[in-house]
Amino acid sequence: MDKKEIVLSGIRATGNLHLGNYFGALSKFVRMQEDYDSMYFIADLHALTTNPDPQQLHCNVKNIIAEYLAAGLDPEKSTLFVQSDVPEVSELYLLLNMHVGIGELMRTASFKDKARKQLGIKTDNDNDGEIEKEIIGSDSNKRVNAGLLTYPTLMAVDILIQKAHKVPVGKDQEQHLELTRRFARRFNSFYGVELFPEPTNFDFGGAPIKVPGLDGSGKMGKSEGNCIYLIDDEKTLRKKVMRAVTDEGPKVPNQPVSQPVQNLFTLMELTSAPDVVQHFRDAYADCSIRYGDLKKQLAEDILKITLPIRERILEIQNDDAYMGRVVRLGAEKARERASKTLREAREIMGIRKFY
Ligand code: TYM
Repeated sequence: MDKKEIVLSGIRATGNLHLGNYFGALSKFVRMQEDYDSMYFIADLHALTTNPDPQQLHCNVKNIIAEYLAAGLDPEKSTLFVQSDVPEVSELYLLLNMHVGIGELMRTASFKDKARKQLGIKTDNDNDGEIEKEIIGSDSNKRVNAGLLTYPTLMAVDILIQKAHKVPVGKDQEQHLELTRRFARRFNSFYGVELFPEPTNFDFGGAPIKVPGLDGSGKMGKSEGNCIYLIDDEKTLRKKVMRAVTDEGPKVPNQPVSQPVQNLFTLMELTSAPDVVQHFRDAYADCSIRYGDLKKQLAEDILKITLPIRERILEIQNDDAYMGRVVRLGAEKARERASKTLREAREIMGIRKFY
């Protein structure tokens, strides 16, 4: 058991899980728990960076526990816990921040993106100067909280405190992982130690994925309003897929595929059998495709994956006693490793007792 590599990942408690979370993260968690020493958690502290309603945050945590279990995470095989149940994380977050540069945090894509939204800056071209001016400008009542800036430090600590080797995440989290490796290297070399391993993403040999949304634009995301949720009922899900953005259809054979239609093909590649995908690709190439048929098939194939999960979510979500047992046990295990690493880090940094 001890020789197995450690896998760790988490999902923010910001709402129900969607197909992006499922294919980018959760489905990999389930597969990896068979072969690794696996730890998966619910990132409630990270959710605080966008100042959620307290009652809603609490509900989100419980919903995600139910969704983890319903998707196949097994408390006998994985350690499942809530981030805030491991207070050691918060202390190491303070310690590690002493080695993190404000500049490198401000240059992180996710920070710039969220800061732009909070400040109401519309454009997404490279307006870093404008963001900095707005952030520092004291006469503004708009505010970007410091927790948002140090989000990557907290994520690095989640990973480093468990000394994880592999971190299954979607493509959008790669920059955060790169920062985690940098912080680990920096700490190790500053103190001349080998405390933290450098973690890598993991995708069963494939490239990390970005699941697209149904609105023809970029990625599926909770704040984009373009999601299919694991908890969606049959009718809602079919309606969403049938309303997905497409185009006027190919006019000449082998015409390049537009972004909205490519998005549907990408979803299909994740959910349908290869011969089904090929059938629709061929129909697109010879201009005989009917998007209505493609959408019907896509909805069918997504439902095959999500409906059984939905049924289990409904069974589990009201069983507070069961969910409570699972995360209490998970927190105990997570704290064991975390407190050992924290002790080591304190000692290395010179936070020692003389009495
Ligand atoms: P969060 O909640 O934004 O996303 C959770 C996981 O879902 C993946 N994901 C996607 N993958 C592919 N396509 C999409 N459209 C899509 N949308 C979401 C994300 O890549 C992620 O893997 N910072 C993390 C939470 C976290 C964490 C950690 C992860 C906190 N500490 C330590 C790993 C290790 C996050 O933003 O999750």
